Amino acid sequence: MTTVLLTGATGFIGGAVLAHGLGSHPEARPETRWICLVRGSNAARARARLLENLSRFMAAEAAREAIGRVEIVVGDITAPPSLEDRRLDAVTHILHLAADTSFRAQEHCHRVNVEGTRALAERARRMPNLCRFLYGGTAMICGGNPPPLVREADAPAPAAEHIVPYTRTKAATEAMLRHEFADLPAVMVRPSIVTGHRTLGCIPSSSIFWMFRAGDRLRLVAGDLDGGIDVVPVDWTAEVLVGLMLKPELAYDSYHLSAGLRKRTRWSDLAAAFERCDPQGGPRDYSRFDAGDWKILRARFEMAFGLGGPLQLAMLRAMRSYYQFSTLGVAFDNDRLAAEGFALPPTLAEYLPACLSAPSGLSIIDQFADDLGMFDGVPESLPKPVAA
Ligand SMILES: NC(=O)c1ccc[n+]([C@@H]2O[C@H](COP(=O)([O-])OP(=O)(O)OC[C@H]3O[C@@H](n4cnc5c(N)ncnc54)[C@H](OP(=O)(O)O)[C@@H]3O)[C@@H](O)[C@H]2O)c1
Repeated sequence: MTTVLLTGATGFIGGAVLAHGLGSHPEARPETRWICLVRGSNAARARARLLENLSRFMAAEAAREAIGRVEIVVGDITAPPSLEDRRLDAVTHILHLAADTSFRAQEHCHRVNVEGTRALAERARRMPNLCRFLYGGTAMICGGNPPPLVREADAPAPAAEHIVPYTRTKAATEAMLRHEFADLPAVMVRPSIVTGHRTLGCIPSSSIFWMFRAGDRLRLVAGDLDGGIDVVPVDWTAEVLVGLMLKPELAYDSYHLSAGLRKRTRWSDLAAAFERCDPQGGPRDYSRFDAGDWKILRARFEMAFGLGGPLQLAMLRAMRSYYQFSTLGVAFDNDRLAAEGFALPPTLAEYLPACLSAPSGLSIIDQFADDLGMFDGVPESLPKPVAA
């Protein structure tokens, strides 16, 4: 029997994975046993948190029925005794998505992402039937000065500079799994930027999508105007993660879950899509600015959103960080993923209508609130962009 241990199921990608894994589509396997490691003061609270998140991806009735098929281990990867639950002995597949994804908490990121994963990997060594340990990394382990095309075979370079500590901890985790846990059947799966859902739009979460709306409102692109950005929808990401987890054989031990050169979202296509969806917003004529030229960003931001409150200030800081990433103009090759038979994702321009229409009526600042926890408290003087 396939027994999956999923961590991070109360998060954005983990929720989509669980909804897909338990869904009613033909590839969902009813014989798969799903165990989720969930934080909570007790089992009932953990189950309620999981149900709340699952309900973002499915109708309430379907979510209640689906959650009845999930076993919950109340636990925290930074608390190794909570991983001792004997049900975990039966695990055959791990999909480890739990992480501290914030751009601010350096020490906490290390504790959760590196040390928490180490604790889980130690426990995995005592799962006699384990045949796959899928580690949810990030394509941005390449750091802040990557080549124009990052390959799936590229391992994290220990000397790479990073724009935020979070990506450094994710790179360190991959390196740790490779060197200290070479005996585990680990496969690194690295999404690029995950935003929106092909049919539910931003109902599950507006994470990062607010940034595309804000960039459109400001008419500003950091980096090459003829370039684009690697972004993928969460439901596609979930389908691919479940597919990679359950595929009997994989040819490689690292994959990008990315749009790649073929499905990268070009700024010109995105501008045209915004214009089609929102003609009242006027013609889209994006201009380029260099990340580092924060004056133009600040001025346009103030005109569009004001700078009167803490939310606006946090959003401006968050935009700076994302502009630093987008100025890299990097593409993440996905030939390995395609060779495994997975269809490539749509561009954001293609699924933009869903993201803009659902839910309706939320302002950009309202949507930013979904990511506020990642940026609250980022110091005003952010690190300078790494020189190209
Ligand atoms: N979203 C993206 O664009 C993106 C891109 C590339 C890679 N990734 C990677 O994909 C994974 C999932 O990302 P996401 O966007 O879904 O993140 P998310 O929404 O922030 O969710 C993080 C999840 O990790 C759990 N978690 C945090 N600390 C934990 C701990 N100590 N013990 C157990 N669980 C803990 C959280 O549980 P609580 O609910 O209890 O806090 C939550 O379920 C992460 O590894 C991230 O690095 C994401």
